[in-house]
Amino acid sequence: MIKANNIHKNYGDLHVLKGVDLHIKQGEIVSIVGASGAGKTTLLQILGTLDRASEIKESDLIINESKINSLSQKNLSKFRNEQLGFIFQFHQLLPEFTALENVCIPAYIGKISKSKAEKRAKELLDFLGLSHRYDHKPSELSGGEQQRVAVARALINNPKVIFADEPSGNLDSEAAENLHKLFFKLRDEFGQTFVIVTHNRELADMADRKLTMVDGKIVN
Ligand SMILES: Nc1ncnc2c1ncn2[C@@H]1O[C@H](COP(=O)(O)OP(=O)(O)OP(=O)(O)O)[C@@H](O)[C@H]1O
Ligand SMILES: [Mg+2]
Repeated sequence: MIKANNIHKNYGDLHVLKGVDLHIKQGEIVSIVGASGAGKTTLLQILGTLDRASEIKESDLIINESKINSLSQKNLSKFRNEQLGFIFQFHQLLPEFTALENVCIPAYIGKISKSKAEKRAKELLDFLGLSHRYDHKPSELSGGEQQRVAVARALINNPKVIFADEPSGNLDSEAAENLHKLFFKLRDEFGQTFVIVTHNRELADMADRKLTMVDGKIVN
């Protein structure tokens, strides 16, 4: 599903990623752990096509058979919107829109009709225990509820891969545990692939595979 070979990233003189090789199978849940500053977010942003790796010979990123570096800007945006989902520590919901509207936005970007998008969004919100919160704005939801809305938004286009960066970083332990269980339920039900950066040891250990980053490299 994901094949990354020899990924490097430089910020000026700072060499942040120093040759990362990574192969992830469809339906696999992989966690990435490591000290602050090791390069985890940088790697996730590159795998998620939100940032580009430094151009180096023999460097390669293939996601679901697509060679990322050879896609045009326009095709890359389309690919990202259709095939990838993102969950961040700070959910970045749009404050002026309701829960239902926030979930629908990636579908609208993909030119899905309003009725289809809303039907799917409601299914997801129901699945996530939010059937009574469609019309609440983010400020009218608890932190855990907001996070679940963000998860529904990440799933609306049935992405092949979900990238999560500290997804439970600002949740209490019960909400965090529920979110973690949800990831596995989604994988079992929809076959999605997850790449999760986390400092949460329990979540990291639940994964099918735990990768450790040290100073810009994966060490295991
Ligand atoms: N845009 C940037 N310009 C310059 N340096 C950057 C930039 N983004 C990140 N860095 C540096 O790259 C290094 C890796 O950052 P990154 O965010 O990937 O770390 P991380 O492993 O996610 O850490 P944390 O666990 O604290 O989130 C850090 O030393 C950071 O200061
Ligand atoms: Mg980070």
